[in-house]
Amino acid sequence: MSSVEESKIASLKAQLKQLNQEYAKIKELPAEKRADFGKEMNLKKQKIMAEIAEAEAAAAEIDVEALDITAPCDTNGQMPEFLTADFGSQHPLMTELDRVMSIYQSMGFDIVESRQLDDEYHMFDSLNFAKAHPARDSYDTFRTEEGFIPPAHTSTMQNRVLKAYKHKLDEGQAIAVAVPGRVYRNEDLDATHEHTFYQCEGVYVSETCTLGNMLGILREFFEKYYGQKLNIATQPGYFPFTEPSLEFKIEKPACIGGKKGDFLEMLGCGMIHPNVLKMAGIDPSKYHGFAWGGGIDRLVMLRYQLDDVRHFESGKLDFLKEFSC
Ligand code: DAH
Repeated sequence: MSSVEESKIASLKAQLKQLNQEYAKIKELPAEKRADFGKEMNLKKQKIMAEIAEAEAAAAEIDVEALDITAPCDTNGQMPEFLTADFGSQHPLMTELDRVMSIYQSMGFDIVESRQLDDEYHMFDSLNFAKAHPARDSYDTFRTEEGFIPPAHTSTMQNRVLKAYKHKLDEGQAIAVAVPGRVYRNEDLDATHEHTFYQCEGVYVSETCTLGNMLGILREFFEKYYGQKLNIATQPGYFPFTEPSLEFKIEKPACIGGKKGDFLEMLGCGMIHPNVLKMAGIDPSKYHGFAWGGGIDRLVMLRYQLDDVRHFESGKLDFLKEFSC
């Protein structure tokens, strides 16, 4: 509250006090004059009280001082008081992302986080999208005015990961990296589609790996995450960066209402296209790789039987409190 408002309210309160003192004089008045005097005093009192209420409400409204963004930063200034940790908890998606990462780590994968702004090369060219190929459309997200792309998938990291870990192949080891990240899509929103969500990419390269190895790794991952044996299935898919490309499915577990043959699509995957390996400087005649990418939100929705993906980014406390311990 500014000092002007403070003194205005103080002066109104002083007037009220004085009025109350004057009111005491009613006892000294002759009986026939008391009613009129009382009425007059009451009117004055109501007027002052209304003015006080108005001044206090106005002061509360402008209680926030405008931030001076040009002021120099005072590193010795007093820190504002933060809410203590008791008032918050980890977002359920972050808890589950930690769980997913620990599983991949236990399976020998390194973790590399993806970027939230990327470029044309990593979003399309390095992933073997031909310049005018219609497949680009389905990954058409948003662009910043400077031409950066909030990525539509974590596959944008494949080229970087392959280049950064290429030395492993020279040392006779495999490349095995999991890449979690936030991704963005220009979607029509509904219970299963959100414009912002999380994905995790897996990248594996060695001299001898096969599609069968990939299916084994994926099955193990999902069984560890859901804590039970699962039936899996695949169907052909299309991604410019894999050949062959597959959609990977799991049978919905009975304990959460799944029926026999009720398969759910969990991610896209396939053998890394030779051009993608080549663009990262890896010889496709010597090395093979597989990769996959899928939404974390979908994984978590199934685990907790959530009905609407939009809860995650809604900031609704009722929803978040269900997960806090
Ligand atoms: N990036 C694809 C998507 O979000 C999913 C995907 C498919 C990732 C195949 C891969 C892959 O790494 O090999 O639609």
